[in-house]
Amino acid sequence: RGKRAFIAGVADDKGYGWAIAKSLAAAGAEILLGTWVPALNIFETSLRRGKFDESRVLPDGSLMEITKVYPLDAVFDNPDDVPEDIKTNKRYAGSSKWTVEEVAETVKQDFGTIDILVHSLANGPEVSKPLLETSRKGYLAAISASSYSYVSLLKHFIPIMNPGGASISLTYIAAERIIPGYGGGMSSAKAALESDTRVLAFEAGRRHKVRVNTISAGPLGSRAAKAIGFIDTMIEYSISNSPIQKELAAEEVGNAAAFLVSPLASAITGAVIYVDNGLNAMGVAV
Ligand code: NAI
Repeated sequence: RGKRAFIAGVADDKGYGWAIAKSLAAAGAEILLGTWVPALNIFETSLRRGKFDESRVLPDGSLMEITKVYPLDAVFDNPDDVPEDIKTNKRYAGSSKWTVEEVAETVKQDFGTIDILVHSLANGPEVSKPLLETSRKGYLAAISASSYSYVSLLKHFIPIMNPGGASISLTYIAAERIIPGYGGGMSSAKAALESDTRVLAFEAGRRHKVRVNTISAGPLGSRAAKAIGFIDTMIEYSISNSPIQKELAAEEVGNAAAFLVSPLASAITGAVIYVDNGLNAMGVAV
């Protein structure tokens, strides 16, 4: 049978999560999505009304099928974590079972097991503030939504992952080099994510025969990136200064993701893989 993938962090057809879903679907995987609760309604409505049909077209001309969309808020592990104001918020009240533990439980009830887990989400409320001006609350929120969310997802999904399965997340070069403008503790969050990739690769590999990697992606004008504010500048910078001088397509990251979670990458784990037209290798801007 084909593999089953759960992709957390898809709420439109513009980001890396959507592109990864498409590449996996093109390779024959069954697609389950986890969509941030406040974005769920508009995403499902748009899907139903055919707004994404053009972007659903796969290389063979068929449309990507999404078997099920789960509401998810990856900053909460179980209902005990959810504060009153979120519980009663009307954007959340319409959905249920959207904490990480509950989503994993529901996927288990629905399908039994999965083979592939993708984490394509991040959030840093103070991302536009320099680190020196970031509050403790903002910093911890960035780490919670962008780093621990991955630890939590893998922790809760790994019991239902088949041996030989694989997981990936998305990171950014700001984890290891200075990228002014990527603030609010987001650079710190990506550094944690990259370090966790190594430790999780060890633990998931030894205990469950599951591989764990992260893709360090170049700039893409996604919804999340537009919220940061400097994305157009980063895209232009990347085109001018990379070894391969072209705009990075989300599909290129999707294809690398499909490779990494496939048996073709059966000896790759604990790695940060750059999919950025080679920009990471440059030492000076030329
Ligand atoms: P995106 O907007 O398509 O994806 C981010 C998703 O995270 C959104 O769907 C949002 O609803 C979801 N999200 C936020 N908080 C959440 C929560 N608490 N629970 C569940 N979902 C939540 O944007 P993009 O850029 O494709 O981001 C995907 C990943 O790629 C992120 O990890 C990002 O840091 C990474 N990345 C993006 C780059 C870029 O230039 N766009 C460059 C390198 C990495």
